Amino acid sequence: DPYANEPARLPALIVRSQKPMNSETPKELLVGSLITPNELFYVRNHLPVPHVDAATYRLRVEGEGVRTMELSLEELQTRFRRHSVTATLQCTGNRRNDFNLTQRPVKGLEWDGGSISTAVWSGVRLRDVLLAAGLEDDNPDVAHIQFEGLDTDMASQCYGASVEVDKAMDPQGDVLLAFEMKGAPLPADHGYPVRVVVPGVAGCRSVKWLGKIVASDQESASFWQRKDYKAFSPSVDWHNVDWESAPAIQNMPVTSHICEPLSGAAIDDDEVTVKGYAWSGGGQGIIRVDVSADGGATWHTAELNKVPQKRGRGWAWALWEATVPLPKGAKGAVQLVAKATDESYNTQPEQAAPIWNLRGVNCNSWHRVSVNVQ
Ligand code: MTE
Repeated sequence: DPYANEPARLPALIVRSQKPMNSETPKELLVGSLITPNELFYVRNHLPVPHVDAATYRLRVEGEGVRTMELSLEELQTRFRRHSVTATLQCTGNRRNDFNLTQRPVKGLEWDGGSISTAVWSGVRLRDVLLAAGLEDDNPDVAHIQFEGLDTDMASQCYGASVEVDKAMDPQGDVLLAFEMKGAPLPADHGYPVRVVVPGVAGCRSVKWLGKIVASDQESASFWQRKDYKAFSPSVDWHNVDWESAPAIQNMPVTSHICEPLSGAAIDDDEVTVKGYAWSGGGQGIIRVDVSADGGATWHTAELNKVPQKRGRGWAWALWEATVPLPKGAKGAVQLVAKATDESYNTQPEQAAPIWNLRGVNCNSWHRVSVNVQ
């Protein structure tokens, strides 16, 4: 069993698949702290967790415009300047369940709203390592930086992904080769000893257990870059999908989620305190979250709790809280609604059906939770 030696995990995580391990953070714990405790960080694995010996670990850099280089963990940690970045990672399939509620099922793990978490990542800049390998800014032969993981399937195919070279080389892009999470070595599930962290970008590009970096004019040839993690029109289905017709998801759209109260909770009051998270891709920090208890007729602006980050580099989520009056005389089911706005004034679409897509990615419609008013 290739999964015989998986790391220990907290029973508090909500398991969506055991082999490979895919588990989300319970909502009430997500809103508990701006920085998710390492052991509660959601886990998204496609393959068995590889066991990497830090003493013999080598990171290989190769490809167009670079000198081939092999770095030990110690060289990576001592030859380059250390940087820390607070960044949220979110799976493209986060909130996929909201598409299933539209009565058109989608294919994928049944994520609710907990495949998102935030960490303080420490490591070195990918830019600095690429510069050390001789890559020049604006090299016309390099369009993508590909990453290969040390996790492999039965046919020895590894997990892989890529990002555009402009993001990888942008000094303001904060792309890290991280070896620490909240000051501790990366846990096995999160990429020990080294992972990529691409702030603002879909979690699938932040390759864990990083073995190789390749500078190329091509995107990663991996299944997950070319044939997955893309979104199409609601009219495209499995019989007519043309994977090449859509770009790979990189920056993700603005989203929010109500974490408290949980769906079906009994409310014995004339107001309700609503808590959740909001996040947007591309470094677009959250500027506002609006909450409604009357289907969107009236809105209450939530209080935001977030780490200070510069405009355009808002890589971390905002947690939020609002106390909202319930409609006068309400009894029985009342729907609470949340929508967030980012610093580019992007906001969320009202309904999930018009953004339905066959893989159930990028679900960011208004989040709705029904409570039971006593
Ligand atoms: N890297 C490798 N090597 N293997 C993987 O399966 N999963 C990706 C990405 N990096 C993956 C990977 C996906 S889809 C996501 S959403 C994030 O890792 C999840 O990171 P986490 O498990 O640390 O939360």
